[in-house]
Amino acid sequence: MHAIEILMGEHKRIAELLTLLNTGAERIVANRPPPRAFFEVGVQLARQYADQAHHFKEEYVLFGLLAQKHHGELDGHIERHRNQHEQCRDLLNATSSALSAYEANKEEAIKIVHRNITEYVRTLRSHIRSENEVFFPLAQTTLSQADQDQLMEEYRRFEAKHADSEKNLNEGLAQMRSMLEG
Ligand SMILES: [Fe+2]
Ligand SMILES: [Fe+2]
Repeated sequence: MHAIEILMGEHKRIAELLTLLNTGAERIVANRPPPRAFFEVGVQLARQYADQAHHFKEEYVLFGLLAQKHHGELDGHIERHRNQHEQCRDLLNATSSALSAYEANKEEAIKIVHRNITEYVRTLRSHIRSENEVFFPLAQTTLSQADQDQLMEEYRRFEAKHADSEKNLNEGLAQMRSMLEG
C-alpha cells in the first residue's frame, strides 16, 4: 500500500464523522438539537483523528517532503492546504467554547455551534476533495519510490504511537449515532 492510499483511506473515515456532524447541525435547524455530548464527542474526534493524526501526517511528513521538490513549485498548494487545516482548528475551537452556553439553551450559542459546525463540514469536505482530486495525484507523480517508502516508514512509526486511534474513532462514532437516535 502507498502512503497516499493511507491518507485517502483516512479521508473516508473523516467523511463519516462529517456526515454525522452535518446531521447534528441539521437537527438544530429542525428544532431537535442534539445533546451537548454529541458535539463534544464530535469535536474530540475531529481533533484527535482528523487533526492530530491525519493533518499531522500531511503537514509534518508529506508537506515537508514535497516542499523540497521542484524548487518550490508546489508551495502554493501546500500553503493553501496548511491554511485550511488551521481554519478547521479555529472552527472546532469556536464550537467547543460555545458548548456550555449551548447546553444552557442560549440562543446565540446555539447559532454559533450551528454556524461553526456547518462551516467546518463544508471546509473540510472541499479540502478533502481537493486533496483527493488535485493535490495527492500531483504528489504521487512528484514522489520517488524512495520518498514513498520514507513516508510509509514515518506513518508506521506514528501509528505505533497512536495504536488506538481507529478504535477510539469507531467508539466515538457509535456514541454519536446513538445520541441522534435518542
Ligand atoms: Fe489536509
Ligand atoms: Fe487530508
